[in-house]
Amino acid sequence: MCIFHINYDHKSVLLEEAIQALNINSTGVYVDGTFGSGGHSKLILSKLTKQGRLLAVDRDLSAIKIGKIIAEQDSRFTIIHSTFSKIHKHIENMRLTGSVDGILLDLGVSTLQLNDDNRGFSFMRDGPLDMRMDVSSGQSAAEWLSKASLEDIVWVLKTFGEERFAKIIAKVIISTRRYKPIVRSIILSKLICDIVPYRNVYKHPATKSFLAIRMYINNELEEIAQVLEDSLGMLSTRGRLVVISFNSLEDRLVKYFIRDHSCVVSIPPKIPLTDYQIFSQYKSKYKLKDMGKLMPSKKEIERNTCARSARLRYAEKLMI
Ligand SMILES: C[S@@+](CC[C@H](N)C(=O)[O-])C[C@H]1O[C@@H](n2cnc3c(N)ncnc32)[C@H](O)[C@@H]1O
Repeated sequence: MCIFHINYDHKSVLLEEAIQALNINSTGVYVDGTFGSGGHSKLILSKLTKQGRLLAVDRDLSAIKIGKIIAEQDSRFTIIHSTFSKIHKHIENMRLTGSVDGILLDLGVSTLQLNDDNRGFSFMRDGPLDMRMDVSSGQSAAEWLSKASLEDIVWVLKTFGEERFAKIIAKVIISTRRYKPIVRSIILSKLICDIVPYRNVYKHPATKSFLAIRMYINNELEEIAQVLEDSLGMLSTRGRLVVISFNSLEDRLVKYFIRDHSCVVSIPPKIPLTDYQIFSQYKSKYKLKDMGKLMPSKKEIERNTCARSARLRYAEKLMI
């Protein structure tokens, strides 16, 4: 089977921290919305007894192949090929709405995807410019770039990449594609390098454009907004929502979602009320308790540079 040729070197980010933030109940029901190589899922499973259950989803078929191997050996584990914006439907089919003890989302792409030359996610590697996490649906980045208007390209680069040079990059894409189709990652990467100045040795000039196009092609922000909204219905009282994000747009969505559904009350110290007694006063409006933010340690960043931009935010569902 081709899984033996897959590069398994994805290092799970904020692994221990995410599991601690989930505050695992060993007989509980958990959801891993971004299975990837299964690093977080495996640690969750190790904390569950026979009664516990873990539902994992991923939109990438390579991740599903890895998950199926675990599912064959462990009846507590189920893996489904799906986007996380549809998890609530699977949870409903399993009659688990309102009974989920924790939902984990580790956003973005895995090293498995980045290092696969056939996927086109990396500006450092040559391959077909695809960038779809789910190659079984939607349009590839190359297809989109072959017909997108100048305005659309500018909008995508600015909106999802916050790219200052969006207009000039879009113009060069339009003029280049007239004589040379932009169908390989290295063509796009070189084209951007030729026009965007190298100001920062740590940041490749194509970083923002590749991120922007990937986020657009995979509808990433809408996916996140949807799953966050659905999480409120899926979680049980005191269930935890844990989200690891890797860029400011993702993190902002998570931060504002938690903030908008959380109640910040300043109660003078030594008032003999529990958090739940306080929050229950606001129950019609507020559904979450903001548990804060965690960042990777210096040690983790040294071990895994991919962790450097990671932010973990978590919240607990209040009694309703
Ligand atoms: C950073 S990796 C997760 C790594 C994983 N936590 C581990 O420890 O191996 C992100 C994964 O989420 C998947 N993914 C991203 N957006 C998704 C979405 N909207 N629905 C389902 N899966 C998604 C990607 O395909 C990728 O496999």
